[in-house]
Amino acid sequence: GAFGGNKVDYVFKTVLIGDSAVGKSQLLARFSRNEFSMDSKSTIGVEFQTRTVEIDHKSVKAQIWDTAGQERYRAVTSAYYRGAVGAMLVYDITKRQSFDHMARWLEELRGNADKNIVIMLVGNKSDLEAHREVSTEDAKEFAQMENLYFMETSALEATNVEQAFLTVLTEIY
Ligand code: GTP
Ligand code: MG
Repeated sequence: GAFGGNKVDYVFKTVLIGDSAVGKSQLLARFSRNEFSMDSKSTIGVEFQTRTVEIDHKSVKAQIWDTAGQERYRAVTSAYYRGAVGAMLVYDITKRQSFDHMARWLEELRGNADKNIVIMLVGNKSDLEAHREVSTEDAKEFAQMENLYFMETSALEATNVEQAFLTVLTEIY
């Protein structure tokens, strides 16, 4: 308000999806608190974090939702996607299977979310180059075909994490 200077102009709900252990929760920890944990535990149910950023002189509160990649721990799908205006579709560049599953995650997302949702394909763990199983080219091609934004990130090294979230938020705006 007038005294606190903490007026929020927009709240943008963004959801994180992808297989278990790809690094969704650590991407969120990095973006919201600039933290990282090597012994991150699997998410159970739903968690969310917020961070307010300034875009075009407006205060935008990013409300980022995170759920389990493991089916048995997952949240109720329809509630998770409700009202989401952005999505991060996360795979692990060292786990081919997590990339191969992107089509299924995308299908679930498109079946449940608003049709104008802004979607970013995120190849996480770019610090593990020696163990790479998904080429940047393959991912770019998939992103282009499906009309998604694309970035490779490292939650560990804080590479492109800020850029990935800010791109989604700016495109929503
Ligand atoms: P679920 O909650 O089970 O769906 O998994 P998640 O996608 O939230 O994965 P989480 O963030 O818990 O990370 C899984 C493991 O990968 C943890 O040991 C993290 O420390 C590690 N990890 C996450 N991001 C990175 C990264 O950028 N680089 C490396 N080397 N490890 C990472
Ligand atoms: Mg998690």
